[in-house]
Amino acid sequence: MPAIRFDQVSKTYRGGQVRALDSVSFDIQQGEFFGLLGPNGAGKTSLISILAGLSQASGGSVSVHGHDVVRNYAEARMSLGIVPQELVFDPFFSVREALEIQSGYFGVRNNGAWITELLECLGLADKAKANMRQLSGGMKRRVLVAQALVHRPPVIVLDEPTAGVDVELRQTLWQFIARLNREGHTVLLTTHYLEEAEALCQRIAMLKLGRIVALDRTSDLLAGRASTMLRFKTDAALPPQLAAQARVTGRIAQIKAHDAAEVETILATLRAANCPVEDLEIGRADLEDVFLEIMQGAQA
Ligand SMILES: Nc1ncnc2c1ncn2[C@@H]1O[C@H](COP(=O)(O)OP(=O)(O)OP(=O)(O)O)[C@@H](O)[C@H]1O
Ligand SMILES: [Mg+2]
Repeated sequence: MPAIRFDQVSKTYRGGQVRALDSVSFDIQQGEFFGLLGPNGAGKTSLISILAGLSQASGGSVSVHGHDVVRNYAEARMSLGIVPQELVFDPFFSVREALEIQSGYFGVRNNGAWITELLECLGLADKAKANMRQLSGGMKRRVLVAQALVHRPPVIVLDEPTAGVDVELRQTLWQFIARLNREGHTVLLTTHYLEEAEALCQRIAMLKLGRIVALDRTSDLLAGRASTMLRFKTDAALPPQLAAQARVTGRIAQIKAHDAAEVETILATLRAANCPVEDLEIGRADLEDVFLEIMQGAQA
C-alpha cells in the first residue's frame, strides 16, 4: 500500500475559471523522501491542501495509507503531519502550550517527553515559555514543524518549510527530518531551494500549470539530462549568440555545453566578442538546470 495515492486529482477555482490541478496521478511509497517541485502557481499547495482535507478536489481522489481523505478523514489526518506554507498560529499561547494543545487535538496523552525532544531538535528549547507573538518569523516556522510532528505521524508533509529560515536551522531541520525518514517516516517536501531537493529527495515530481511534467528518481533526472555547465563571472554583456542560451544571475553567467567541442566554441565566441571572463568553472548540470530545461520545454 502506498503512503499517499493521488488519483486523477483535479482542482478548479472560481467556478472553473482557474484550473489549478489537471488530473494529477502518482503514488508515494512508504518510507520515501519525495520532492514536489514547480514554479509559483504550479499547484503544489493546492494538492497539499486537498491531501490535508483543507480543500475539496473538483475531481479524483487522494488516500493516505489507504484511507480516503474525504470518506475516512479522521484516519487519514491522523497519519499526516502537515507543515503549511502560510504561517498560522494562535497568539495567546506559549510555544509549549501550543504543542500540548495540538497533542490534545490528536488525542495523544502524556506527550511531554516527545514535546521536549521536538523543542530540542528544532532549536526551540529556550523559547518553550515564550509567547507565540514574541517569536521571529523563522522561529514561528520551527513551531509549525514541531506542531506537525507532535502526534508522530507516519507521513510528514512539508510545504516550503525552509522559506525565511536561517542556514543553521535549515541544517538542523534537515538532519532531524532525515533521521525521521531513516526511522521509517515518509516525507513529502515542496521547496524552491532545488539544491535541498537534490540532496534529500529520492524521487521528484515536477508540476507545471497543474500537470505533472516529470517524475523520476532524482539520480535519473540528473543523468537523463545532465550535461556540462560552463560558469563564469563577467561585467560585460554576453554576445547575442550566447545570451539567448545563458542563465544569468547578476554577474554570474551559466551556459550549457553538450560536449568538450561545444565548450571550446563558447570560449572562442567570448574571446572574439572581447567579453572578459573571471572565475571560469566547468561543472555538471545540477537540478536547477534540469528544472529550468524541463519547465521551458514542457507544454502548457
Ligand atoms: N483560493 C483560491 N482561489 C482562486 N485561485 C486560487 C486559490 N488558491 C490557489 N489559486 C490558484 O491556483 C493556482 C495554484 O496555486 P498554488 O497555491 O497551488 O500554487 P503553488 O505551486 O503552491 O505556488 P507557490 O510556489 O507560489 O507556493 C494558482 O494559479 C493560484 O492563483
Ligand atoms: Mg505553495
